[in-house]
Amino acid sequence: MTSSSPFDFSGRHVFVAGGSTGINFGIAQAFARSGALLSLISRSTDRVESAAAQLVTGGAQAIGLPADVRTPEAVEAAIAAAANHFGPIDVLVSGAAGNFLAKALDMSPRGFKTVVDIDLLGSFNVLRMAHQHLRKPGSCVIQISASQASVATPYQVHVSAAKAGIDMLTRGLALEWGADGIRINSVIPGPIQDTEGLRRLAPTQETRDAMARRVPLQRLGRIEDVSRVCLMLASDWGSYITGAVIPVDGGLFLTGPRDFTAAAEAARR
Ligand code: HXC
Ligand code: NAP
Repeated sequence: MTSSSPFDFSGRHVFVAGGSTGINFGIAQAFARSGALLSLISRSTDRVESAAAQLVTGGAQAIGLPADVRTPEAVEAAIAAAANHFGPIDVLVSGAAGNFLAKALDMSPRGFKTVVDIDLLGSFNVLRMAHQHLRKPGSCVIQISASQASVATPYQVHVSAAKAGIDMLTRGLALEWGADGIRINSVIPGPIQDTEGLRRLAPTQETRDAMARRVPLQRLGRIEDVSRVCLMLASDWGSYITGAVIPVDGGLFLTGPRDFTAAAEAARR
């Protein structure tokens, strides 16, 4: 346990899908700083191996394995390899995702399907294949969702459909897996600064400033805002929380639909 974290995950196995960059990597770093053993998967061998190497340089035990969450066999093999290496999974974070700004009529069926395949079917693959390796009782699954799941959002119908499905997976599996002693919750990051997701939705300083002004707490989020909630949820402090969908967004979910027209035009320039 370090002074920066009130939680001790020493010897606990934390598996992060989509863990090589951004928010998910920040979550992996936070668990690593609290003593956890980290397994990461993502598509790019270079990115996932270098993310794991960064955790090892920081003093953690970590492995990075390439796997596309759209391929159930690859996910199954990576999870089995991780469980073989570090033992049963105590905390599973499912956060692999893809996004782009496009109106439905500017999106091919394959474009829509790509995001649903990565976000929703990919999450099902990760959770389904991990179940046999989750510690029972006592494990915790955290799905990384988005406000588009419940706030209707133009230019984001693919993400809305996928993330809404993710939140319903969370609720349904909380019922199915509760008796196994597995908790499962969704965390909804707000607009988080210095991430690929925000770069795609707010590509200019002007659009980022407008986004920050819209947040009731009047600032963009930090990766640490999200990772701290994940540590709390996975700790004993979260031991009676399951099936919850938890916004960590400075209150943005209260403000209704957003208009990404200016951001989409800026992205095209
Ligand atoms: C319309 C688009 C498009 C765009 C891609 N497509 N970009 N359609 N507008 N801007 C279409 C393509 O034309 C193609 O359809 C189909 O999508 C698949 O494209 P590929 O490039 O072949 O897909 P793939 O290589 O699998 O890459 C997936 C990806 C890519 C999602 C398109 O952007 C990616 O790998 N993203 C991962 C990183 C990422 O997005 N991070 C942000 C996560 S944040 P056709 O029919 O032409 O073949 C996030 C934010 C949530 O999720 C909320 C934040 C507030
Ligand atoms: P990011 O850095 O692009 O993270 C996405 C991760 O998923 C990457 O590590 C990527 O690595 C991996 N990935 C993508 N497709 C994959 C696939 N098919 N199989 C396996 N791994 C895959 O984006 P981010 O902005 O930090 O977003 C992280 C999560 O937070 C996402 O779930 C996103 O929806 C959510 N979120 C973000 C924000 C925000 O403000 N950024 C807001 C709300 C929600 P590879 O490219 O190597 O595969």
